[in-house]
Amino acid sequence: MWGWIVYHWGMANVARSSAAVPTLPPGPKGSLLTGNLSEYMPDQLGFLTRSAKRYGDVVRLRFLNVPLYLLNHPDHVEYVLVKNNRNFIKDRAERSGLRFLGQGLLTSEGEPWRRQRRLAQPAFHRQRISAYGRTMVESAEGMLDASWQDGETRGIQEDMSRLTLKIVSNTLFGAAITQELEEEVGEALEVVMGRFTGGILFKVPERIPTPANLRFRRAIRRLEEIIYGIIRERRGAPDEDSGDLLSMLLATRDEATGQGMTDEQLRDEVLTIFLAGHETTALNLSWTWHLLAAHPDVEEALHGELRETLGGRAPTMKDLAGLSYTDAVVKESMRLYPPVWGFGREALQDCEIGGFRVPKGTQVIVSQWVMHRDERYFEDPEVFRPERWTDGSTEGLPKYAYFPFGGGPRLCIGQSFAKMEAVLLLATIAQRFRLRHAPGQETVEPLPSLTLRPNTGLRMILSERA
Ligand code: HEM
Repeated sequence: MWGWIVYHWGMANVARSSAAVPTLPPGPKGSLLTGNLSEYMPDQLGFLTRSAKRYGDVVRLRFLNVPLYLLNHPDHVEYVLVKNNRNFIKDRAERSGLRFLGQGLLTSEGEPWRRQRRLAQPAFHRQRISAYGRTMVESAEGMLDASWQDGETRGIQEDMSRLTLKIVSNTLFGAAITQELEEEVGEALEVVMGRFTGGILFKVPERIPTPANLRFRRAIRRLEEIIYGIIRERRGAPDEDSGDLLSMLLATRDEATGQGMTDEQLRDEVLTIFLAGHETTALNLSWTWHLLAAHPDVEEALHGELRETLGGRAPTMKDLAGLSYTDAVVKESMRLYPPVWGFGREALQDCEIGGFRVPKGTQVIVSQWVMHRDERYFEDPEVFRPERWTDGSTEGLPKYAYFPFGGGPRLCIGQSFAKMEAVLLLATIAQRFRLRHAPGQETVEPLPSLTLRPNTGLRMILSERA
């Protein structure tokens, strides 16, 4: 996702330092000036897939003057994310493009990141977040009662986005967030995400006051005002534990120093959670509706499990264990349409991957889109078949052949939250509605930006289930 794409023209030229490299990985030649950009830009997913197929597990690419190594083997992904993770930091594009997230979990590095992760981890513990299950189900029911009608055509991506934003706002802030503030947060986040439509390539640097940049800065300022306002209220009533994520983040103390988070650290974390925690889950659900509509047999099996396990009542956390097929549907949907479709790192020191020397400063990229559709690991990789996760056929899969949430120390902190949310929402909504593509929407294509969005917004027709 987080676009590994070159952000600055004047970056260190790693090619120079690779003069002594014994073997360079193979890769498409590209043009003298722009490298592989002209092939990559119009078809990012296709280009990476073709490059992996043609050149193998380590592919050398170049965008302008910046060489990148695309890694296509689960062991290489594991090497970067887990085994030698200390030798890698987030890639340059992410460091520049997401600078507005400050020292939040997604963008910080080294000791500051380790400290923040230690502090935030307990708030995301499975037991803690299970308290949010009820909020998730009630929010979904609220949406269905208030706005979904039989026969209506709706923009499903938008609906899923609004729903997951409501859930993340409520779990972060509890009752402190009013409907009005929630809408403002939604509008501001849309402007923020809008900056990354089509990736982050060739964006005018934030400091230059173009109309789009001014809109972006205004949106960030408004989000900050809201976040700081709520933090101030909370600090003013320190004894009230409202059980939401913010109160946990406020209460947490570093074991070594006894210190908590400053307001600025809280701002960075809250903004990060807003950004990382709502669109990803909304997209997972949107793609799932798309896939279910195209596969009535899977939909029927899903309804069968929901009937048997829930018999029409709202799901609770206790039901999750009995919803294994629903879980497999979500998992398979994330295989074919990973909301985070790729991300990058930069090597701090020379190292070796797959027999190739990786010079210090190299940008390495891994892509869930490419790996999840690799026929070496998945039989009939293009086929939507949730059963592959329940019939044993994916047993023994290399760990990093499937990595929608990343891995290693920087594994998505919201993984349990997101999985629980997707299953509960799918179970709640699918019991009441069946969704079919509106005319022309069957051929929706993935649009890679920071995340993997449907290019049409996914308009679907609702039919209420008897
Ligand atoms: C389907 C939903 C989601 C997907 C596919 C997803 C995916 C990811 C991935 C791949 C990473 C690692 C990026 C990297 O290593 O560079 C990540 C990190 C992160 N995610 Fe998620 N995520 C999802 C939902 C959530 C939710 C619900 C939250 C919060 C409530 C969240 C918060 C974060 C944070 C804070 C990080 C940074 C963790 C760190 O570096 O310590 N994510 N996510």
